[in-house]
Amino acid sequence: MTRPLTIALIHNLKPLTPGDHLPPDYYSECDSPKTVEAIASALRSAGHTVLPVEADRNLPCWLEGHPVDLAFNIAEGFHGEAREARVPALLELLEIPYTGSGVLTLALALDKGKSKQLFRCAGIPTPNFQLFGRPEDPTDPRLHFPLIVKPNREGSAKGIWADSVVQNPEELKVQISKVFQRYSQEVLAEEYIEGTELTVGILGNEVLPILEIDFSECGSSGEFFYSWRMKEFQGNRQMHLTPRFWCPARLDPPVGRSVQAVALRAARSLGFRDMARVDIRLSSEGIPFVLEVNPLPGLDPEESNLPLMAKAAGISYPALIQKLVSLSTERRVAPSSIPLSHATDPSVQGPRRRALPDSRRKDSVSPGDPAVAALHGSRRRTQARNEDPKEEDLGR
Ligand SMILES: Nc1ncnc2c1ncn2[C@@H]1O[C@H](COP(=O)(O)OP(=O)(O)OP(=O)(O)O)[C@@H](O)[C@H]1O
Ligand SMILES: [Mg+2]
Repeated sequence: MTRPLTIALIHNLKPLTPGDHLPPDYYSECDSPKTVEAIASALRSAGHTVLPVEADRNLPCWLEGHPVDLAFNIAEGFHGEAREARVPALLELLEIPYTGSGVLTLALALDKGKSKQLFRCAGIPTPNFQLFGRPEDPTDPRLHFPLIVKPNREGSAKGIWADSVVQNPEELKVQISKVFQRYSQEVLAEEYIEGTELTVGILGNEVLPILEIDFSECGSSGEFFYSWRMKEFQGNRQMHLTPRFWCPARLDPPVGRSVQAVALRAARSLGFRDMARVDIRLSSEGIPFVLEVNPLPGLDPEESNLPLMAKAAGISYPALIQKLVSLSTERRVAPSSIPLSHATDPSVQGPRRRALPDSRRKDSVSPGDPAVAALHGSRRRTQARNEDPKEEDLGR
């Protein structure tokens, strides 16, 4: 149990009435007041003092004026190629310990193309892809249709609609132009994987029960995947956006273990810390294709996937939030390699902060654990797949 701390809960709030001039998905990644309050209340129930604060341009001054022991970071950020990494970068500058992944991981995970290159290097299956820096870039003829077209650096399924899945080069060009125009960034086209939608939660070194999202009752909506509409209006019967959730997923145990192992490897390949949610499409041939790693997964107690998976593992919502605090305070060395307990040189004026507790790190997965053993099996299969030179070259 961590001793009582003063914690800054750093977030970007979804406004109750977003401006009419903004696209409808503009604030989709931000957190609702309800989510922020749920985290704050879970932290308070563990005896901590919580100071919620918006991650905007006033944050540096605010942090200078409010000495805290820890930052609980859920800020998604706005603008820029590494927006999710901005708050962690500031916290490192001010030598304030924080929950979750560091600067490099958050920047890499936001960039789907870069993440996929790293997955490829690590032998982790990921759909073949091409990154378009300009709408007029020629299409790699080795890509197999159907493809799905998405912005390279967005989350919450922004830019993913029913017509994002394209069947031919003409549709592809239309879709690429549309995404360019709307999001002003590179566009990722990747092979569409028919199969089962899975997401895997990771807490510290513990892989949580897999969540399966079943879209078979959403046929009339025209969408069979986790589109923006599916996420935004989830549960809406008139719109037929009624996915079903299975946790644990309906998979044979060996398949489930190999999916979990691939997810853990994907998250580790980006250097995640404390938590992550890895999105996977399991193909009909049984290959777990990693779509992306989310190092800042949603933490709404009722609506987000990670708390749902934690619950299936017997971890209550307050316990999940407290676990994130203890994982971050148990880190012996800050990302900047400054020991947390004496991070501030007394000769340097910086934010005042109390020494952190000196507890031991607990790793629940060791090299001998089944998840890791299954991982070696999946690596063999992946290598076999990558022996095809045509597939090997795609997306590099
Ligand atoms: N290659 C693919 N094959 C099949 N479905 C895909 C593929 N890529 C994306 N999808 C569908 O689109 C959804 C959103 O894609 P992705 O996870 O890449 O976007 P995101 O905006 O980062 O999502 P998140 O809301 O998890 O942040 C996936 O969960 C899946 O349903
Ligand atoms: Mg996703």
